[in-house]
Amino acid sequence: PRYFALIPAAGVGARMAADGPKQYLTVGGKPMLRHALDAFLASPLIAHTYVVVSPEDGQIAAVLPPAGVTALRCGGATRMDSVLNALRALQGQVGENDMVLVHDAARPGLTPALIAKLIAGVADDPAGGLLALPVVDTVKRYTAAGAGGEGAANVATVPRDGLWLAQTPQMFSYALLARALGAATDAKAITDDASAVEALGLSPRLVEGHPRNLKVTLPADIRIAEMYLAAPQ
Ligand code: C5P
Repeated sequence: PRYFALIPAAGVGARMAADGPKQYLTVGGKPMLRHALDAFLASPLIAHTYVVVSPEDGQIAAVLPPAGVTALRCGGATRMDSVLNALRALQGQVGENDMVLVHDAARPGLTPALIAKLIAGVADDPAGGLLALPVVDTVKRYTAAGAGGEGAANVATVPRDGLWLAQTPQMFSYALLARALGAATDAKAITDDASAVEALGLSPRLVEGHPRNLKVTLPADIRIAEMYLAAPQ
C-alpha cells in the first residue's frame, strides 16, 4: 500500500484560552501545525500529506510548505466529522487498501522515526494500529454521588496494568477507517479514530510512542513541547 498523512486541524482549541485556533499558535518558532507537516514531509514513507481545516479558515495558506501538502477545506463539527469529510473528499485519490495516518495538529513533537516505527509496528495489520504510551501514574476512577446520595462519591484505584494512553498518528486502511467512522453513531464515545475501529470488534495494534509526541492542550504544554523540540530526536 501507499501511506498518506491526514491531519485534522479544524478545531477551535477552546481549552487553550488563546485568541485563535491552537494549531496556529507559535511553538518553537513556527506554527504548531507546521511541525507535524514537516515531520510527514521529512518521512520518505509518506506519499502525500493532507490537512483538513474549517471552510472559514483564513490562516492555512501562510502555514503550508511550498509543496507536498494539500489543504482540504471541509472540517466538520467534531474531529470525527472532519476526518470523515476528508476521507470522502479523497475518494478515488487514495486507494481502498492504502493506509491513512491520522495525526492531531496539536502534537508538534512527531518525528520521521516515530512515523517509521508506527508503520513497521502495524505491519499492515488489517485492524491498523496507533502510537500509545503505557500509563505510569496510579489511576483513580471517581464516581459522583447520585441524586440525594450524601457523601456517596466513590473513588477506586484502577489497576494500571495494560492501560495505555493513545497518541497519534493512528493508521488504518482507507476502507476500514471510512467504514468505522461512517458507522459510528455515538460521537461522544468516539474520542479517537481507533475507538471507531474497535467499535467494529477489531483490535488495532499498540506501538509504543514517545513522551515528546504529547498533545498540546493547556497553555503550559507549549513549554513542554518546546523543550522536546529543542532536544535531539
Ligand atoms: O481539541 P482536540 O485537542 O481534541 O483536537 C484534536 C484535533 O482534532 C486537533 O488537531 C483539532 O484541530 C482537530 N479537530 C478538527 N475538527 C473539529 C475538532 C477538532 O479537525 N471539529
